[in-house]
Amino acid sequence: MPVPKPNLYPPFNIVRLSHVDYGVTDIGASRRFYVDLLGLQVTREDSSQVDLRALEERTHHCLRLTKAKKAGVRALGFRLYDLPDLERAHDWFKAQGLAAEWVKRSQQGRTLRAAAPDGVPLEFHVEMDRLKPIHQKYALYRGVRALRIDHCNLFSRDVDASVAFYNSIGFRVTEYTEDEQSKRLWAAWMHRKGGVHDIAFTNGAGPRLHHTAFWVANPLHIIDLLDLMSTTGHLAAIERGPGRHGISNAFFLYIRDPDGHRIEIYSSDYLTVDPDLEPIKWDLKDPQRQTLWGAPAPRSWFEEGSPFDGVATGEASLKAQPIVAP
Ligand SMILES: [Fe+2]
Repeated sequence: MPVPKPNLYPPFNIVRLSHVDYGVTDIGASRRFYVDLLGLQVTREDSSQVDLRALEERTHHCLRLTKAKKAGVRALGFRLYDLPDLERAHDWFKAQGLAAEWVKRSQQGRTLRAAAPDGVPLEFHVEMDRLKPIHQKYALYRGVRALRIDHCNLFSRDVDASVAFYNSIGFRVTEYTEDEQSKRLWAAWMHRKGGVHDIAFTNGAGPRLHHTAFWVANPLHIIDLLDLMSTTGHLAAIERGPGRHGISNAFFLYIRDPDGHRIEIYSSDYLTVDPDLEPIKWDLKDPQRQTLWGAPAPRSWFEEGSPFDGVATGEASLKAQPIVAP
C-alpha cells in the first residue's frame, strides 16, 4: 500500500512519546543497568517500582520499571497537548470501538488507557509532575549520559495497518521500507515531535516492543559506553553496533537490559517539522538501510522482542525478509 498522506488535523494532538512502563523481574538489577550504564536519574522508588528521567527532561519519568513475575511491557505513554485533547482522545477511541478507560497513574494527572486495533496498550496524559532542570548539573552525568527518551519501535504483523492507524491519529511517516515484490510496507518510521520518529514499526511476529531508544548528544558517548560495558561484566548485553543507520542517519548501539528488553542508544537524527516533508523510501534488500556502512543486523534483532502484558501475538502476514547476518 502507498504511504498515506499526512493527517495535519488529527482528532487530538499528541506532543511526543513520553515514557515506557516495563515489567522487570529483578528490580535491583534493572535499576543498576539504567542508572549505571544509561545515566538515568531515579526520581521515585519503592520496593516494587522505580521511576527514572533522563538528564534533559523536566517531566517526572521517561521510564517506569515495575516489578513483575514475567518480563513484559505494561504501556507506552504519550503526552497530549492540553486537557481538551485528552477528552477528544477518549471520545475518539470509544467511537472507533477501541478500548479506552480512565486510570490513575502516580505522578501523572488524568490518564487515558486505550488500545490500538492490534491491542498495543497506549496511555495518554497531559499533566506529569514537573521537576527542576538538571541538564547543567554535570556532576550527575554518568554512563552514556542519556539526555531524553526518543522513540519506541514495535514489531507489527501488518505494518500497512499500523501505519494507517497511527496516521489517523496524526503521526507522519518520515522514512519507510517497502517489499518490492508485494509493494507492502516492511517497516515505517513515524513522528509527532519533529524528529525522525516517536514510533516505528518493523515487520515480524507481533505486536511486541522491539526497542526503546534514548538520545545522546555525541557518538563518542556510545564509544565510552562500550568501553564501560565490556570491562564491567556487560559484554553479553551488547547486541548490535555501534554503527550509522541508513534510515534516520543516526549513530546507534543496541543493548539488552537484564530481562532482555532491547534499548537503543541513538545520537543525532534530523529535523522533520515541515508538514510537506517527503518520506524517504528504502528497498528491503538494501543493506545500507540498516547500517550505512553495510554490516547486516544479527538474527536476534529480527526475532526477539518484548511482549505486551496480556496481548496475544501472531505471525507477520508478510514473509519477506532482509539480509541477515549468518
Ligand atoms: Fe530505533
